[in-house]
Amino acid sequence: MIQELSYVGIASPRSEDWRAYGTRQLGAMLTDDGPDGAVRLAVDDVSYRIAVHPGEQDEFLYAGWGMANETDLQNFVEKLETHGVDVHTGDATLLAERQVAELSWFEDPWGIRHELSWGKLATPLSFTPGRTMRGGFVTGDQGLGHVVFQVPDLDEANRFYVDVLGFRLSDRIATDRYTVRFYHVNGRHHSLALAELPGYVGFNHLMLEVENIDDLGTAIDLLDETGTEVMQTLGRHTNDLMTSIYISSPSGLQIEYGHGGLVVDDLSWIARTYDQPSYWGHRRPASSRSRVPGIVRPAPAPADANAAIP
Ligand SMILES: [Fe+2]
Repeated sequence: MIQELSYVGIASPRSEDWRAYGTRQLGAMLTDDGPDGAVRLAVDDVSYRIAVHPGEQDEFLYAGWGMANETDLQNFVEKLETHGVDVHTGDATLLAERQVAELSWFEDPWGIRHELSWGKLATPLSFTPGRTMRGGFVTGDQGLGHVVFQVPDLDEANRFYVDVLGFRLSDRIATDRYTVRFYHVNGRHHSLALAELPGYVGFNHLMLEVENIDDLGTAIDLLDETGTEVMQTLGRHTNDLMTSIYISSPSGLQIEYGHGGLVVDDLSWIARTYDQPSYWGHRRPASSRSRVPGIVRPAPAPADANAAIP
C-alpha cells in the first residue's frame, strides 16, 4: 500500500532560479545538488523532497511514493504486475540519487512516471527553513503534500489510480466547467487529485502546507520581492478546508501554499461531491487567466493509453 507522497522531480531550463525561489519564497532548505546539477530542496528532516533537474524545457519527471517497508514494496510490485503494469527496478545509481533503500517505477497510462520506494534517508534535526519561519511544514505521516495531475480521461484514470494503485477517494468537486477527484493514502485529505483536460497530460500543482498561518502570510508578503505571480488569490477550499494561495514557480507548475488542511479518518470518511471549490477567494487574476496553468503536454494516442489497463 502506498503510504505517502514522498518526493517529486521536474526538469526546467530555470532550475537554478529554484535556489532563491525555493528558499526565500517557499521557505524550503537547499540541500546537496544532484549528480546532474539538480537543485534539491528539503521541507523537513528527510534528505530532500523536491528536485529540479536542469533541462531544455519544463517537464514533469516523477512523483515518488513512500511505502512502509521492503515487504510492502515487494507485495505491491507483484500486485501491479498481475494487473499488467510494466514495473522497473531501480539500479544502484538511481537508489543513490534518490537516497532510498529500494525503488521500483512504472508509468500510468499517459506516461506519468511514478516511483515507489522505502527507506528514504533522513537526518534528525537537519531542517532549517530557507527564510525566517515561525513553524515548519506539515509532513510526518502526511507526507510531502499533494500533487494534482491533468489527465485526458478522468474515468479511465480513476480506474487505474483506484483499482490498480489503491488510492482512496476523498471526494469530488464537480462544477459546470470541470470535475476533479481527490484521493488520500494517509490522514492528509488528499495526496493526489486528478482533473480532466481532454487531449493533454499535465502536472498542475504541488501543495505545501505550513504549520503556522503566519508563514502563509509572510509568503504572501514576499511575492513582490521574489517576482512571483499570484495564480489564485488567498481562499479556503470547501473539501480539505485548506486556506491557501496559488503562486507561480520558475517552471510552469504552480505551488499551492496553504495552512490548516483537514485530516481524514478512513473508518468514518464518506466521499461527498462539492459544487464549488472554495468558500471564498481562490480567484484567478486577469493576468493568470490567459493560459492553462501547469506543465502540460499533448496526451499519447488512446491505443497507448489503454496499454496498462487489463
Ligand atoms: Fe491543491
